[in-house]
Formats: sequence, structure tokens, C-alpha cells
Amino acid sequence: MEPEIEKIKSGYSDYFLARLSDREFDKLSGYIMQEYGIKMPPVKKVMLQSRLQKRLKELNMVSFKEYIDYVFSQKGQQEEVIHMMDVVSTNKTDFFREPIHFEILSSHVLPEFYDSRGNNTFRIWSAGCSSGEEPYTIAISLAEFAERNPGFDYSIYATDISTKMLKVAIDAIYKEDKIEIIPMVVKKKYFLRSKNREEKKVRIIPGLRKKVFFERLNLISDRYNTPDTYDVVFCRNVLIYFDREVQQDILSKICTRLKRNGYLFLGHSESITGLDLPLKHLQPTVFKRL
Ligand SMILES: C[S@@+](CC[C@H](N)C(=O)[O-])C[C@H]1O[C@@H](n2cnc3c(N)ncnc32)[C@H](O)[C@@H]1O
Repeated sequence: MEPEIEKIKSGYSDYFLARLSDREFDKLSGYIMQEYGIKMPPVKKVMLQSRLQKRLKELNMVSFKEYIDYVFSQKGQQEEVIHMMDVVSTNKTDFFREPIHFEILSSHVLPEFYDSRGNNTFRIWSAGCSSGEEPYTIAISLAEFAERNPGFDYSIYATDISTKMLKVAIDAIYKEDKIEIIPMVVKKKYFLRSKNREEKKVRIIPGLRKKVFFERLNLISDRYNTPDTYDVVFCRNVLIYFDREVQQDILSKICTRLKRNGYLFLGHSESITGLDLPLKHLQPTVFKRL
């Protein structure tokens, strides 16, 4: 039996689980770090192995050697890397995650924009949007504001590296328990229940879906060809995966897409301390572009 294959007897059938050697881990983690900036210290080896084992199974491969040869082949670079990154990235998210940010948006940022808007559309970018809960929460906050403030228009640009997450986001179908924390009156306005009540699923209403434009964007890429510049950028719980140097690079590029006096929101455990950026600190995790 090949050394990297471990046979585990279960009560029902035999499973063959490929084992990732240290050298193979170094090769993959080095590549992921270099091309996607995602930190992969040795403690992540077990996580990477177990997530990729599923992928090997889907491809009918029995060893990581075979998989790595494929990833680094021309075909693999075109077809497999996207799938590999889908399993590598951590996509945890929620509606109204870190609710203080939506309060600041509604009570401070939007009124400030509205008072000096002229004919401008309010543009906001959710960078690292995962399965869509963040941009749809933004959409709900903006729709509520639009209802109270005539003439206010908005558009939301949402990007992620994971095509799998973007597909979920575009479908906009979620389990009912994901929206438990949302007040009933808001749920009724912005979510449709599935016809089959046993499914316990909801879908964002078309009027809100059409306000969000999703696209794949790797934050490690040299340039961000976003369609616009933005009044606000949410880049929350994404930077934690990158080392300081990559964080500096990503935030510098984000600042080039953020309008002067625009706002940047980061995740609760992220900071810009020690980074050289044209940003003024307003609140923990909320910054204004100079
Ligand atoms: C933990 S989720 C955060 C989702 C949302 N912003 C929130 O705070 O709830 C992190 C997201 O960053 C994305 N991501 C990781 N590396 C990325 C990269 N290099 N470029 C773009 N997105 C990336 C992941 O695919 C994932 O969906």
C-alpha cells in the first residue's frame, strides 16, 4: 500500500484517506500564501488535509502527490485552483454580524452622504462578501434609509474569491434559522418564504437582489478593477487571514477605491495599527479616508 494512503475500517465500508506529507503541505501552503496571501502556518496542516480530502474524493484521486501534480499542471492552474481556494477559505458570516456597524451606517454615514449628495448614487463595496449575508444586510439598511429619504439611491458591489460562496450569494436562498435574529417586520419586507413550508428556507426579495452586483475578485491581485470608487467599503473578517505585509498592501489598494471622506469598516478583531494608510481612526474598526 502507498505510504500516504491510510486505510480506516468502518463498520460499513473501507475508506482510503490520503495523507498530506510535510513537504506536500509546504508546497501547497507556500503557493496559497504567495498567490492568495492566506496564512498557512503548520498548525493548519490537519485542516488543509481534511478539507482537501473531500476534493480528492470528488476527483477520484488517491494521493496528494497526484493532486499536487494536477494543481500545478496547466489544466489544474486553469480549472482546479478555484476549487482548491473554495475549500481553503473560511466563509463564516451572518446577517447583521457586528450590528454596531449597521447602526453607524444608518445613523451617521448615510445622513452625512444624503445632506451633500447632489445627484450622486451612494456606492458601497463589500470586499470578502462570502455567501451574501453582509451585502444583503447592507442592502436592507440602505433600503430602509431610502424609504425615509426621498431621492436617495444606492448600489452595492460585492466580491469574494470563492466562486462557491458567490453562487450561494447570487441565489440568495438561506435557511430560516439564519434570519432568526431579524425583527419580524423586517423579515416580512425583505424575505420570501419558500412555497414548500417543510424546506424552511427564505429568499431575498428580487427588488433587493437587483441592487447587489456580485463579482469574483482576489484581493491579492495587483490592481482592483472595480467598476467605481466607493463611499463606503466593508472589508470585515478577511484581513485576519493575511500577514501584516499583505494587509498593508490590500488596504492601500482598497484606499485607492475609497472616495475622499469615505468610510472603511473592518472586522472586530482587525486593526490598522502600525500600517501606513491615508485613514483617520473614528471608532474601533471604523475609519475615514483622508
Ligand atoms: C470569514 S468570511 C467574512 C465574510 C463577511 N465579510 C463577514 O464579515 O461576515 C471571509 C471571506 O474572505 C474571502 N477571502 C479570503 N481570501 C480572499 C482573497 N484573497 N480575496 C478575496 N476574498 C478572500 C473568503 O472566501 C471568505 O468568504
